[in-house]
Amino acid sequence: MSLLFSPIQLGNVTLDNRVIIAPMCQYSAQEGCANDWHMIHLGHLALSGAGLLIVEATAVEADGRITPGDLGLWSDDTEAALAKVVQAIRRHSPITLGIQLGHAGRKASSRAPWDGGQQIPVAEGGWIAHAPSAVPHLDSELPPRALDAEGLARIKQAFVDSALRADRLGFEVIELHAAHGYLLHEFLSPISNRRDDAYGGSLENRMRFPLEVFQAVRAALPGKTLGVRVSATDWVEGGWDAGQTVAFAQALKALGCDFMDASSGGVSPRQQITLGAGYQVPFAQKIKRETGLPTMAVGLITEARQAEQILQEEQADMIALARGMLYDPRWAWHAAAELGGQVKAPQQYWRSQPRDQKALFGEIRTGQR
Ligand SMILES: Cc1cc2nc3c(=O)[nH]c(=O)nc-3n(C[C@H](O)[C@H](O)[C@H](O)COP(=O)(O)O)c2cc1C
Repeated sequence: MSLLFSPIQLGNVTLDNRVIIAPMCQYSAQEGCANDWHMIHLGHLALSGAGLLIVEATAVEADGRITPGDLGLWSDDTEAALAKVVQAIRRHSPITLGIQLGHAGRKASSRAPWDGGQQIPVAEGGWIAHAPSAVPHLDSELPPRALDAEGLARIKQAFVDSALRADRLGFEVIELHAAHGYLLHEFLSPISNRRDDAYGGSLENRMRFPLEVFQAVRAALPGKTLGVRVSATDWVEGGWDAGQTVAFAQALKALGCDFMDASSGGVSPRQQITLGAGYQVPFAQKIKRETGLPTMAVGLITEARQAEQILQEEQADMIALARGMLYDPRWAWHAAAELGGQVKAPQQYWRSQPRDQKALFGEIRTGQR
């Protein structure tokens, strides 16, 4: 029996299978508002048969966007724009929907990757970023402004407000973005956090703000399936590492975290990453083993049997894919065919079921959950 195509309980939500579409920034929104691109992009991924589709890093305030094109959820306008996309998906797909909520911290005000990704000067429409400390990501960049007590309170509230909007939109799963060198990760890592107040220095102090954010969102949405994506290591000597990640995950678990999503890197240009198939899986395994929390593995997992083996060996509970899903949006269908699993497919596409795969598509009709 395929584990990849068996259900999993995450908080109050049961996913049909353990194939997760990882959050992927599209840098294509206008003033934070979703548009036709998101309808097409998320619409096609909603037909993928994955157990969970996590919408891209969505900014909780305008200044928390990585690029001016980031999706946002900080106002009635941004909420209404995303509502159109979510409602269309709901009409045509039974997929479970999640959203990643984030704040770019010192990596805000950047150009889209296809425009080079550099910091945008204020004179060219950029803005001054906020971060734990006034330390830029790159020496060449304009330093961010260190957050004061008022700024911390504002951002914490922004996470809560966006989470409430996400809940109202009908997202069943919320993931807080504490990875890739963005704001919450910047608090965790001693590389970016040089504060000498209660939010910097010791591990306990560096975890304080991300935990406060988690706790505030949890308090606002007690029954919501809520998880956290972490960078399990900075890949820099003396930076954030797997041991600290486990301490963070344990603290999150005590506050009611439903799952962890184990990524890595992004806080320092000095990172030395050894890339390879499933290179981040050991981090998921460590978090899972030492906390017992349901954990997603992500990063260069591209093959159905590789994904299945990770689950069979209890290295992770779910498998998230990003680039592989863009390359082959029917990855889950093909993996189910290979592993003898089943996926939900739209009835309009049922005739595509291969002759020798009569059980591939579960009996599900449009709009039926
Ligand atoms: C186009 C693109 C956009 C991404 N945007 C996000 C994002 O919004 N949030 C995030 O946590 N990771 C983001 N990532 C990282 C992916 O979620 C994933 O962790 C990474 O690509 C490794 O998985 P893969 O080897 O399956 O692509 C992005 C990756 C890609 C390729």
